[in-house]
Amino acid sequence: MTTPPSSMQDALGGRAEKQPYVDWIFSKVASRYDLGNDIMSLGYHHRWKRRLVRFARIEPEHRVLDLAAGTGDVTFMLARYASRGEVIGQDINAEMLAIAESKRPADLQNVRFEQNDAASLPYPDASFDRVTCVYAGRGFPDFPAVVREAYRVLKPGGEFWNLDFARPPNAAFDKLYRGYMVASGVALGTALHMDPRTYVYIPVSMAHYPGQRWLEGVMQEAGFETWLDETFGCLMAYNVGRKPER
Ligand SMILES: C[S@@+](CC[C@H](N)C(=O)[O-])C[C@H]1O[C@@H](n2cnc3c(N)ncnc32)[C@H](O)[C@@H]1O
Repeated sequence: MTTPPSSMQDALGGRAEKQPYVDWIFSKVASRYDLGNDIMSLGYHHRWKRRLVRFARIEPEHRVLDLAAGTGDVTFMLARYASRGEVIGQDINAEMLAIAESKRPADLQNVRFEQNDAASLPYPDASFDRVTCVYAGRGFPDFPAVVREAYRVLKPGGEFWNLDFARPPNAAFDKLYRGYMVASGVALGTALHMDPRTYVYIPVSMAHYPGQRWLEGVMQEAGFETWLDETFGCLMAYNVGRKPER
């Protein structure tokens, strides 16, 4: 797809056009996605991802599903822990998954990448010990449907770990933070892709995202026991849900 289907504000604000717009963005940025992340977060995204993987207490035999795996960063980290288990990195975007495949370390045999929609997963009920989702929820047209799917495919006692930008509780700080994201997004999108929209996607999708407290309610409605960790000065939110043992 070479042109976006509609304006970013319209597309990200409603359900119908959101998926084609998000697909357009990620197909466009795939080849330089990792570089863009390193620059925009000053390298910190690795640290925030490592923290999630460490805290998720992955065991060697675990089966793990990494939703919206993108270029595979988190999937590969998970696979080091689930050394005798299996990790599936799923994503809807073929270009992102192709980059992930190209980065696969030669010694990692327990990883598979599969293209499908997180809102309608092709995996059996109760088939994973952990489901992770990193920096992707804002882009889903129907995040509650994805949460219900995560619940369905988890084994009883299994956990869903979601990491995304937080909505800072202080409105003035929130405005300043998003101002920085717009300014740096315009500069980075223009420099890397000759198109400011590619990185302004982040603050615009953040503005349309109801945030970590809303997500916690959605997870509870799906059946999860939840906890929430807002950290790094309230910039990042880790939403965690445990599927109760019967
Ligand atoms: C910001 S990237 C995050 C990638 C990776 N998790 C990371 O942290 O680097 C968001 C990803 O969500 C994927 N995505 C968007 N909608 C999706 C859907 N409905 N199902 C699965 N993946 C989706 C995009 O293709 C993209 O790769």
